[in-house]
Amino acid sequence: MFSHCPVPAKPGLHYLCQMLKTILIKAAERAGAILKEYYGSHFQISQKEGVNNLVTEADHAAEKAIMEIIRENYPDHYILSEESGDMPTPSPFKWIIDPLDGTVNFAHGLPLCCVSIGLEQDGEMLMGAVYNPFFNEFYFAQKGYGATLNNQGIQVSKEKKVEKACLVTGFPYTWLDQPNGPLDVFSRLIRKGVPVRRLGSAAMDLCWVAAGRFDGFYEHKLNAWDSAAGFLIVQEAGGRVSDFTGAMYSPYQPQIVATNGKIHEELLRWIDGSLPK
Ligand code: IPD
Ligand code: CA
Ligand code: CA
Repeated sequence: MFSHCPVPAKPGLHYLCQMLKTILIKAAERAGAILKEYYGSHFQISQKEGVNNLVTEADHAAEKAIMEIIRENYPDHYILSEESGDMPTPSPFKWIIDPLDGTVNFAHGLPLCCVSIGLEQDGEMLMGAVYNPFFNEFYFAQKGYGATLNNQGIQVSKEKKVEKACLVTGFPYTWLDQPNGPLDVFSRLIRKGVPVRRLGSAAMDLCWVAAGRFDGFYEHKLNAWDSAAGFLIVQEAGGRVSDFTGAMYSPYQPQIVATNGKIHEELLRWIDGSLPK
């Protein structure tokens, strides 16, 4: 078994981390190229559980390519991937894959979609990559080393007030009309004039918080593959990520609030309904 590899003493990166990073980037780039090949062509679209919850040939082809690259190099690693499910092994390394985040956008010819791959070691996110091949935006973070967009460092925004912020959210395909659920929180914010966008790709939402384009993102019901890479990218860009109570974020529970840190506590109170007065 490997010894612990994250946070090696700077400036030298541990050899294993370099290899893992190389494979992660290769897999994300390959999957991104596959999405580009399918984009705008005639591809098969199937329906999953819920209305408009789609999966396309491109999701499957991108996932296959990612898993092949990982398995060629690390046949014993644990993989959790949206379309193929949970494939546990005793390895401390676990790859968490969303081969196409923003499938509905993709199926409609909207280029707001991406590949998202997170890599955990011993239950902690070690690296994450999110690649939107249509915007040519490659986001990467390694724990303790900051976050980058196309190899340039990125930082979250500096906004301090929710009322002046630009937010983004997403809606699950089912479970919308709960008390204090997605529609209630959205309504509370937009009724007070707070701009809340809805892009349709949680991984892009997170990266755009990391890049300072949005001040905050929240969503009620995500899966681990939607957020695994993006949450590390936000944290490494100087932001804060939690659940709706403000507790430390885990991608294995559904709620997420990811902000520049400065509006975090206030946004939590907008979400739980204790603000605005
Ligand atoms: C979806 C997107 C969307 C979010 C949904 C996810 P998919 O992922 O991330 O933004 O609101 O909850 O399921 O299905 O396009 O991979
Ligand atoms: Ca997704
Ligand atoms: Ca997906």
